Amino acid sequence: MPSGAASPAELTARFAAEAAAVSDRLGYEGLRLAWTGRKKGILRAMLAGMKDVAPQDRREYGQAVNELKRAVETGLEALAQRLAEEEKAAARRAATLDVTLPGRRPALGSLHPVTVVNRDIEAIFAEMGYSVAEGPEVEDDYHNFEALNFPHDHPARDTQDTFFLNSGALLRTHTSPVQIRTMLARTELPIRIICPGKVYRNDNDLRHSPMFHQIEGLAVAEGITVGDLKGTLEAFIHRLFSADTGVRLRPSFFPFTEPSAEVDITCPFCGGSGASLQGGGACGVCSATGWMEILGCGMVDPRVLAECGIDPDIYTGFAFGLGVDRVAMIRYGIPNIRMLFENDERLLRQVQP
Ligand code: PHE
Repeated sequence: MPSGAASPAELTARFAAEAAAVSDRLGYEGLRLAWTGRKKGILRAMLAGMKDVAPQDRREYGQAVNELKRAVETGLEALAQRLAEEEKAAARRAATLDVTLPGRRPALGSLHPVTVVNRDIEAIFAEMGYSVAEGPEVEDDYHNFEALNFPHDHPARDTQDTFFLNSGALLRTHTSPVQIRTMLARTELPIRIICPGKVYRNDNDLRHSPMFHQIEGLAVAEGITVGDLKGTLEAFIHRLFSADTGVRLRPSFFPFTEPSAEVDITCPFCGGSGASLQGGGACGVCSATGWMEILGCGMVDPRVLAECGIDPDIYTGFAFGLGVDRVAMIRYGIPNIRMLFENDERLLRQVQP
């Protein structure tokens, strides 16, 4: 036997230990090559060692190496069988259906805050007898401005920060053109409609986004007064927020209404006090004023009625334009309008219809 090398008996034990540690096909191949490899295998080295064994010991050595070889061969066979069985068992385990496991819940989507607010507002006005009208987002100068009594080169146009398209068309800056389209296409009076939709202005900061949502309201009939406008808006606001929400009208200007007003509600965060409810100080939501502006309104200007072929000596009307995103921010306490359009699921998931 070559001096210093392991004896066949020691190698048999070593092989058995190595085989027991193998757990996959890769390990099996490594083991097989290490022991039976034609060039560098251990068995091969043992046979080559025969020449260093004293002649009288060669017989015994040869027998021992033969025994080792058989042990390795049967060991490899057994190992291959064990691995095949383990694979089968694993496949069976993977394929079993465990009916006692809890089911996977489908991820339910939620409605966008703007959708929720739109639906609530539509429902309130539907109860008051209003129907929903819609109009195009790509408008022309006539419906967005001209017919609404914005004269050419009138500074009021600047307040709208209009996006113009190359064709000369524009992205509507408000939902008021739907008033015009509705009046022009009317088949009967009175008219009572609301028009929800997207509007666009070149404006971008914490409170303004280049795209936002408005709901336009229009009522035209004989004998409609400012009292009807105020009563309708108060009833609406009390339904949308709460019955104790304060409402105030501030005189304002729009080319298509006369008189015009902006409507504020008492800040729902400080209850109108202007003081922060958490730990004193000023209310940051309404900047300590106690009020928040949510819409513009007024009596439809007689020139607008006349432009649409409605006799202003017989008919009067009121109109309003509400900022839907503003209402959603107030209702859900969202401080930045852009959060409404990032579609971060962490925000959307919190919206309860
Ligand atoms: N269209 C106006 C705006 O977007 C709002 C408004 C609508 C005012 C209807 C009065 C009547 O600024």
